[in-house]
Amino acid sequence: MLLLLGRTVPLSFAQSHYLLASNQNIGTMPERRPFVRLPTDVYPVNYGLSLKPDLIDFTFEGKLEALVEVTQATNQIVMNCADIDIITASFVPQGGEEINATGFNYQNEDEKVTLSFPSALQKGFGTLKIDFVGELNDKMKGFYRSKYTSPTGEIRYAAVTQFEATDARRAFPCWDEPAIKATFDITLIVPKDRVALSNMNVIDRKPHPDDENLVEVKFATTPIMSTYLVAFVIGEYDYVESQSSDGVMVRVYTPVGKAEQGKFALEVATKTLPFYNDYFSVPYPLPKIDLIAIADFAAGAMENWGLVTYRETALLIDPKNSCSSSRQWVALVVGHELAHQWFGNLVTMEWWTHLWLNEGFASWIEYLCVDHCFPEYDIWTQFVSADYTRALDLDALDSSHPIEVNVGHPSEVDEIFDAISYSKGASVIRMLHNYIGDEDFRKGMNAYLLKFQHKNASTEDLWDCLEQASGKPIAAVMGSWTKQMGFPIIAVDQEQVSDDRILKISQKKFCASGPHNEENCPSWMVPISICTSEDPKCTKLKVLLDRQETTITLNSVGPDQWIKINPGTVGFYRIQYSSSMLESLLPGIRDLSLQPVDRLGLQNDLFSLLHKQADMQEEKNRIERVLGAISAPDLIQKVLNFALSVSAPSCGI
Ligand code: BES
Ligand code: ZN
Repeated sequence: MLLLLGRTVPLSFAQSHYLLASNQNIGTMPERRPFVRLPTDVYPVNYGLSLKPDLIDFTFEGKLEALVEVTQATNQIVMNCADIDIITASFVPQGGEEINATGFNYQNEDEKVTLSFPSALQKGFGTLKIDFVGELNDKMKGFYRSKYTSPTGEIRYAAVTQFEATDARRAFPCWDEPAIKATFDITLIVPKDRVALSNMNVIDRKPHPDDENLVEVKFATTPIMSTYLVAFVIGEYDYVESQSSDGVMVRVYTPVGKAEQGKFALEVATKTLPFYNDYFSVPYPLPKIDLIAIADFAAGAMENWGLVTYRETALLIDPKNSCSSSRQWVALVVGHELAHQWFGNLVTMEWWTHLWLNEGFASWIEYLCVDHCFPEYDIWTQFVSADYTRALDLDALDSSHPIEVNVGHPSEVDEIFDAISYSKGASVIRMLHNYIGDEDFRKGMNAYLLKFQHKNASTEDLWDCLEQASGKPIAAVMGSWTKQMGFPIIAVDQEQVSDDRILKISQKKFCASGPHNEENCPSWMVPISICTSEDPKCTKLKVLLDRQETTITLNSVGPDQWIKINPGTVGFYRIQYSSSMLESLLPGIRDLSLQPVDRLGLQNDLFSLLHKQADMQEEKNRIERVLGAISAPDLIQKVLNFALSVSAPSCGI
């Protein structure tokens, strides 16, 4: 499970992306299990699914009537199924006689079931009918029970789902792979005093014919979608609601009596939907979206299409007693999950290998969205101080891993939900956005969403669309950042030749453990931007460093001007300035003309370089002087002494 779940502390803004690199115990990792995807001879077109949870004895009854297409005659149907008992199964060919399944062979290890039929199911359409029972488990995955205390102090339970990555199969037998999309017609049979929610709006609600205490709630047909995005919630909730300017009905469901605490998230969601609508130039495709706070929730939040589930601390804001970091966190989480409604839900990754893109993209655009909706938060500074520097620290370790890893068995999916997917993923997409420029980036995104909407796509499909829109070598550039672990340190030296400044730039892998073996030193395609003291907010020159080293001429830069590489701290690398360049930055730091994110990035780079310079007194003094100018000198001295006392003797530069 994403390592967020492994954290022993509750989620908070500051901790949000402070995850561990996933394979730090790589030496003890279990052997990879052999894995084959589901056969494609029978696949679903529509799931008619009816579920009747029992909130007293924690079981549920289910009825599936799935319209399927048989593409090749077979007498077996293989589906995913876990912790479910099938009572009966049959197949009704269109216009033909019902064929009862004669065997259900559970492959528990693989979470699959094979239904055997006495005669071959012929090519064409038919209805697969399965009656089954399952447990409302207490594992916070699949269809599970969530405990809460009613306003009168009574202990009660809600029934909730969490299907990502591969737990829809615990709620109903299904083809539980992201590329096997189908539509869903969901009916929930629930106590009449409970709220019942699913991905779509309610289209019918009627008393259950056999039990006057129950109602049957029928939801509208979903668009074609992956199983991991299906959701249902049955419980007691209050809500606040509003319509976004683009006509979507938004509700925030809270524990009973706490509707007030949903108002902030409602404001965020109603601002966020039109932002994405406009940014992607594709409307939100469902008539409603519900955001709901769940008492027992393993992740921070989950982007189920039209019914987003949240941990209470990621959605609720007490208007009287909350700090701005809690509001910022809620805004970011809402921004993240709503971005998935397009990027992930409308266009879905073909396989879990591309999960990093799903999460990395959402983890970047959540900031873009919050910056748009709440410019007063100055949220990008938080990105640099939280995600970006965290990703650099982790990715400099020998135990890091490439962002893109091949996922075979679904059990490997959980291993890749880590800070490298989220924070490095978000950081390299931020670098890419800056390299392409917003206009072409949006053009490429729009082309990607339109081309693959209601379908599946891979990382390369996005690079292709961005490449088309920008005319830049996106696949080659991005491949160098996603397929190999780590990042470079860029060494820069300068020379003044009359009115021009000549910069010598070179790259080397940055390792926290010691100098990288020069022979096989990897290299990156590094988008580099440069600004000068003439206008510290404006990039004077952009280059793509596609080799080990290069020389750049900056025209009309007088000897009194300073040069800053990586303005905005958007490039995913560290900078090592020559002594003279570093010293020349001091005035920009002192008069604050260097922006906060630039000072932050500079400070972070210098800290990491100090290890190396510990034995070079003069260089160390110079770095300390610059660091001292950025932060309060007393504080910096204390931190430096501490850092030097515990640091390893060298750092690979
Ligand atoms: N899709 C994830 C949640 C998820 C991932 C659930 C893997 C189960 C397995 C969701 O979009 C997400 O990333 N949630 C984050 C919060 C986000 C703001 C970083 C989380 O749960 O921490
Ligand atoms: Zn996400």
